[in-house]
Amino acid sequence: MDDIGDAERISMVKEIFSTIIGRYDFLNHVLSLRRDIAWRRFTAGQMRPFSTRSFLDVAAGTCDLSIEAAMRHAGLQVVGVDFSQAMLDQGRDKLAERGLGGRIHLIRGDALCLPFAEASFDAAGMAFGIRNIPHKVKALRELRRVVVPGGQVLILELSFPQTGWFRRFYNLYLNRLLPRVAGAFSPNPPAYRYLAESIMDFPSVVQFAGIMRQAGWTEIRAYALTLGICRLFLGRKPEP
Ligand SMILES: C[S@@+](CC[C@H](N)C(=O)[O-])C[C@H]1O[C@@H](n2cnc3c(N)ncnc32)[C@H](O)[C@@H]1O
Repeated sequence: MDDIGDAERISMVKEIFSTIIGRYDFLNHVLSLRRDIAWRRFTAGQMRPFSTRSFLDVAAGTCDLSIEAAMRHAGLQVVGVDFSQAMLDQGRDKLAERGLGGRIHLIRGDALCLPFAEASFDAAGMAFGIRNIPHKVKALRELRRVVVPGGQVLILELSFPQTGWFRRFYNLYLNRLLPRVAGAFSPNPPAYRYLAESIMDFPSVVQFAGIMRQAGWTEIRAYALTLGICRLFLGRKPEP
């Protein structure tokens, strides 16, 4: 994976998500032992909509973070953006089932070029999306542009535990067990080899906090969830 260029990587990510769509939610829940639900719920609990009462969910996929946000904050309007129409279509069915179609709006678009004016949202978030985006600073700058001054960014991402026995255990899980389980259920087992590699390649907490700072976010905080296999990074857009 180290040898491929950004454009190739982006088209690989697009292909991966287009081949696993029907099973995406199921595999997420199985492979994380349903922790993914708790992680998104925790993220929604950290949101502080205070001005426009709107939240932008980028790389929204099948809309689980959008749904958690809308359910947690009464009256919140949510916009979900993803470049995969098929993922959004699956999400739209879930919104209809939950009667949330009027509060969550879905738009096909690229995280690097969001179709919104400056300062349109109180908060912007991305769950399990930034890992797949080669230009992380650019994506984080774009999120900063569309958030109001004083607004928030929330980045939820899988990571590799930093120390100890759990790191060794998780290494075995990611590289041995996960490809087998995923191979049994997924039509695209290489997608889960990519998943393992991309988690191991993800920047450390200090490095990622540096990337956020470079993109103009301040007051950066990171929470380790489930022994550090997932992290939530929070940041604030400085007020003028
Ligand atoms: C692992 S899924 C996460 C989906 C969802 N946020 C969740 O919590 O399950 C990653 C999503 O990011 C989307 N994605 C990756 N790069 C993107 C980009 N540059 N712009 C928009 N969406 C992107 C993919 O299409 C995919 O739906």
